[in-house]
Amino acid sequence: MRNFTDRLAVITGGASGVGRSLAFALSDAGARVLIADIDAGALAQTRDALRARGARADARECDVTDPASLEDLAVFAFDELGGAHLVFANAGIGAGEAGPLWGYAENDWKWCFAVNFWGVVHTISAFMPRLVDQDSEAHFVITGSANGALLVYPDQPIYSATKAAVHAVAEALYHQTVRAQSPVRIHALFPGPHVVETGIFNSQRVRPNRFEKPADAPDTGIRSAADLRRMLEAFGMELTTTHPDEVARTALDGIREGSFWILPLNPTAEGQVRARMDSILDRTNPPVPSIG
Ligand SMILES: NC(=O)c1ccc[n+]([C@@H]2O[C@H](COP(=O)([O-])OP(=O)(O)OC[C@H]3O[C@@H](n4cnc5c(N)ncnc54)[C@H](O)[C@@H]3O)[C@@H](O)[C@H]2O)c1
Repeated sequence: MRNFTDRLAVITGGASGVGRSLAFALSDAGARVLIADIDAGALAQTRDALRARGARADARECDVTDPASLEDLAVFAFDELGGAHLVFANAGIGAGEAGPLWGYAENDWKWCFAVNFWGVVHTISAFMPRLVDQDSEAHFVITGSANGALLVYPDQPIYSATKAAVHAVAEALYHQTVRAQSPVRIHALFPGPHVVETGIFNSQRVRPNRFEKPADAPDTGIRSAADLRRMLEAFGMELTTTHPDEVARTALDGIREGSFWILPLNPTAEGQVRARMDSILDRTNPPVPSIG
């Protein structure tokens, strides 16, 4: 799809970070946008900011961990707004796990899988049948992460596990739609090329009570990119970051080009992916990656 004019784009996690930047970039390119998020306050703020710029924007509260909530969103998009041609399964969180893997709180695992993995599955289940029935060119974009899909960093095993699982789903969905000669194109979006400055470091702000973290559970204490920068500096490392608007521009280019892999990687990460692939094929032990 090269022309987004009047197309409806549905974006989960659309209130903040990458999702918010996608909404602005898509509406600047002529699309209508429907942003969906669990954070009602940020959702209203983003919708109002979009409308103030002249965007045709709707907002819907949505919890991606709940299949009924995604079904409501799909019904709204298709029955009230006339159908969607771009769907972004983008909502995601960081669990804030810290320390040895065997000491993590079960609720950190459950919450992260509920949002990052099940959220994507529920979005696929609600939207794919409708996109397929619509029988016209459409795009389904899954926000993954190189952290898990391509590299396994030592310090975020929960997040990495969710993103490894999501990537398997995205690639299988790609193969299935190609085999079916479906007009629905699948894209795997990897925000980058560096750590993206978003609200993900403070995901605890949208943590539901049912996944409450026990008071004694280990936690990173990192609540922002600035916190991460300070922590890395203490180890003599520098943090380079990417603005989410750059991710949105890269995503739209990838959709226009029909690319499955929307994968901006910095040279350090690229080298680490190659080293990991070499270690798999050479059967040597995995090299330890570091954030580039
Ligand atoms: N920031 C990075 O460096 C980076 C890198 C790779 C991948 N990603 C991925 O990008 C995506 C967007 O995250 P971001 O970095 O923009 O963070 P963010 O916190 O700024 O945005 C995530 C949005 O998801 C929403 N959300 C959380 N739980 C939800 C739920 N249950 N239902 C609906 N919405 C929910 C939040 O309210 C928030 O608005 C995520 O999938 C994340 O894993 C981010």
